[in-house]
Amino acid sequence: MLVAHNAWARVRGPRKPLDSADHVGAEQTLRKTLSWPHLVALGVGAIVGTGIYTLTGVGADRAGPAVILAFAIAGAVCACAALAYAELATMIPTSGSAYTYTYTVLGETIGWVVGWSLILEYSVACSAVAVGWSAYLVGWLQSAGIVLPPELLVGPHAGGIVNLPAVLVALAIAGMLMAGTRESATFNIILVFIKLAALAVFVALTLPTFNADNLSPFMPYGFGSTVQGGETRGVMAAAAIVFFAFYGFDAVATSAEEAKNPGRDLKIGIIGSMLTATSIYMLVAVGAVGAVSYTLLAGSAEPLAFVLRSLDHPFAATAVAMAAIIALPSVILVMMYGQSRIFFVMARDGLLPRWASKVSPRTGSPVLITGVTGLFVAAFAGFFTIGDLAELANAGTLLAFIAVGACLMILRRTRPDLPRVFRCPQPYVVGTLAILGCAYLMLSLPELTLMRFVIWNLIGLAVYLLYGRARSILTRDMLAEERS
Ligand code: ALA
Repeated sequence: MLVAHNAWARVRGPRKPLDSADHVGAEQTLRKTLSWPHLVALGVGAIVGTGIYTLTGVGADRAGPAVILAFAIAGAVCACAALAYAELATMIPTSGSAYTYTYTVLGETIGWVVGWSLILEYSVACSAVAVGWSAYLVGWLQSAGIVLPPELLVGPHAGGIVNLPAVLVALAIAGMLMAGTRESATFNIILVFIKLAALAVFVALTLPTFNADNLSPFMPYGFGSTVQGGETRGVMAAAAIVFFAFYGFDAVATSAEEAKNPGRDLKIGIIGSMLTATSIYMLVAVGAVGAVSYTLLAGSAEPLAFVLRSLDHPFAATAVAMAAIIALPSVILVMMYGQSRIFFVMARDGLLPRWASKVSPRTGSPVLITGVTGLFVAAFAGFFTIGDLAELANAGTLLAFIAVGACLMILRRTRPDLPRVFRCPQPYVVGTLAILGCAYLMLSLPELTLMRFVIWNLIGLAVYLLYGRARSILTRDMLAEERS
């Protein structure tokens, strides 16, 4: 029994103490500049984006009118994960979100795997949004009579060289973040407002035209995820894709160290932004599939503008497209912010090179690693399709959410004594639902995506075994303590 326990402890690696943020030097500490309005804006900024503006059409293609149900399922699963996040974020208010929680609760090895998966959630999702943004921009430029060289507008998969607009938007946002958190977060509030105003206009114009005939048949491809006509379809297949529309609230948790009053600010930030987005999505989905046949919706790359044009509201259609062009970068901003903080914490832990954890004394943000993140996001955005990027990002996110559900329940059992600023109601029910729901969504993704995800994590494990494990600060400190 003891031998098995010791062997597991070696594989698992060391566990971070719960108060690890208290032990770092000033150069490696982030400034406390954010309060809850900033955090709700950060959350909504990250949540509402390409998922609702673009993937609603893909969801309708996979599930028919039951895309409404797909949104509800993905939202319910995310709500469970959000509750778990809120408890952990307020209990362990250090940057790094799911990576830090897992490192603390389940040990370094699984923590690393989750951190590596978060690169998909944050960086690859940024790339997906950049590609979606690029399509809106190109469409708008074309309608204004401006024609750019087509080979610079799409990646090699579509016969081009590189998706240059997507690359440029990714680099521009990285530049803004390098200039400092506070300015970026305030600017983000304006973008969030534009994004929400456009969706409000959409709902106001579509709901009065609701036609129940458009909802029949409601589930043309059935419920479970199966391959039909060369595509993975069914309500669950759609839920596994539109899941993309919901995450981002966890970016709020990654900024825990920068919150002025983590207990209050994070709770309002995470739950508030989640509830706001879910209500809006349900209204937008009902408005869209109630207004036009799902078969028409399914074929559009800009479904919301398409619906408005079909209803003879060309001006509103242009306004919604413009809002997407102006505001989708806010999603990239918040997700890239979250990513740079996760890299920052992983480097501070010694698992990534140390230079990455240097905070600039002038801006109070980790400038170098933010730049590297920007380059990574730009490279993916330049050369891959939005579908591939969104599915892969979802796989990474689902794994992180599963880990968060597990950490919530384990800490309730092992450390019931710890003060919890926010207590998740029914933690075992919520944690179990988060784990089962995310696992079901993950298994509903196309097989190719799951294969790519496994390969990604095998690469990650190799990096950990060859680099991080030997340089872990925690292991070093523990060995030093043992010797003294
Ligand atoms: N939830 C974010 C979006 O839909 C990632 O763009």
